[in-house]
Amino acid sequence: MTSEKWWKEAIVYQIYARSFKDSNGDGIGDLNGILTKIDYLSWLRIDAICLNPIFDSPNENNGYDTSDYYTIHTEYGKQEDFDDLLQALHEQGVKLILDIVVNHTSNEHYWFQEAKKSRENIYYRYYLWWPEEDGEPPERESFFDNPGKGWTYNLQTNSWYLHYFSPAQPDLNWENPAVRKEIHNIFRFWLQKGVDGFRLHDISFISKDIHFPKITKKIIEHKYQGEWSHYYAQGPRLHEFLNEMRVEVFDHFNAVIIGEAPGILAEHALSFVDPQRAELDVFTQFEGIGMGYVSGEFRNVIPHTYDMRIFKNIFSRWNDVFLNIGWGTIYLGNHDQPRMVSRWGNESPEYRKSSAKLLLTFLLSMRATPFIYNGDELGMTNISAAPWVGDDSRTPFPWTGDDGCGFSSAEPWISMDPNCVFINQEASMRDPDSILHYFKKLALFRHSCKTLVYGNYIQLNTEDALYGFIRSDEKARLLILLNFSDQRVSYIMQPLLVNPIKVLINNYSDVRINEKNLEMLPYQALIVDLS
Ligand code: NOJ
Repeated sequence: MTSEKWWKEAIVYQIYARSFKDSNGDGIGDLNGILTKIDYLSWLRIDAICLNPIFDSPNENNGYDTSDYYTIHTEYGKQEDFDDLLQALHEQGVKLILDIVVNHTSNEHYWFQEAKKSRENIYYRYYLWWPEEDGEPPERESFFDNPGKGWTYNLQTNSWYLHYFSPAQPDLNWENPAVRKEIHNIFRFWLQKGVDGFRLHDISFISKDIHFPKITKKIIEHKYQGEWSHYYAQGPRLHEFLNEMRVEVFDHFNAVIIGEAPGILAEHALSFVDPQRAELDVFTQFEGIGMGYVSGEFRNVIPHTYDMRIFKNIFSRWNDVFLNIGWGTIYLGNHDQPRMVSRWGNESPEYRKSSAKLLLTFLLSMRATPFIYNGDELGMTNISAAPWVGDDSRTPFPWTGDDGCGFSSAEPWISMDPNCVFINQEASMRDPDSILHYFKKLALFRHSCKTLVYGNYIQLNTEDALYGFIRSDEKARLLILLNFSDQRVSYIMQPLLVNPIKVLINNYSDVRINEKNLEMLPYQALIVDLS
């Protein structure tokens, strides 16, 4: 039986700080901007915010290329601004989780600047190198340089350095105990300040077989489902490093450790969050969000290519992974993905509201910690036409319908979506039927009903477009029905339902019952009490 924890019950709100609220008129969102919106965060009834990287960085990869883990990027503010924000959040009962990437640093990090000078430099061993005298380095793929190389040559050391992402992001050598100590100290520094947890990005890649065996595309095809990430996620000392991190650092703090773990298959996921093994607390899977990608084109996704049968199978399978122990997150969008409503719902004026509400109902009624990406509570849409890219979800948060939509007094660093004149927070607050008010209602409901957090989950055998499941425990029995289509779909009520039914959540104002059928309207979402 799973134990109760705040982070299992929490609704996490992901803030892309660069695009949330600019307080100093430079067109870039910042920490003080978030501080000015504390009342809104508290009003939303979320329990924690998760901040995309805010550390010093040349921003080659939006802060996932860190040049100093101890310093707040000047664009976001100062250390004192961070302290003020943390204090203000805590006063409102909102926790703070930091995104951090320690698989690689920026090539502008002091360690790498030193490392690249000579093979004798002590920082040389902080990274992974292939000496020129050993010939061509073995094939490794860089995710960002398709079909590019995962090695870049450095003249001064006459050797190649490894980078799973861009050449501006050299991978750290976790085999070196000095590197691990440095990383532990970084975590300790922020935990001592009082942060409530970390989301560890690309954590599945930190361990490498440093004998660098010959891996070819063919091997990747046959043994690793055609994905380099599956090979990269099977480093020989991965579990050992995670356990060491836990024992050395995290066990001494009351924080949550969320692993953002690309390349890990469902059958291996539990081993990362089994409390007995003392590694991570929460596992973030990629299978759901990976549906419908154009092969080989990182971040490009073809519209509406997902199949509801596969969708249901994936989320049900991942529910089963953490059936008795362990825990996962659930999300349908983030800074790397297209906007949730454009991708999984329907952004047309007719269905944007109902489908966004449906998706939020799904996220808040599953047995996992929901991560809501900022703006999805307003139903923000993709700015570009398909195929969509991650940057679609990085457009500034629209606070008002005025000129500049209340994000900044200056030209924003990335274009506002022109639809911010009508999709914005102020207008959503005014509209009692808005996605925003519906989200809040759902958040309150989830907080009042632990059945939605811990209760059993059983998927029902329904028509493809309809996703039906039961959440139940000794206190309640809830039926969740989600029509993922723009057509009406019938749900045969017997034997689960009798008329009149007790509707707890509905994204429409009524329920259509026709003899023994419940007529689900396009994108209708219902939570029904069966207790
Ligand atoms: C994961 C982050 O979510 C993504 O934005 C980034 O590009 C990669 N890590 C590489 O750093």
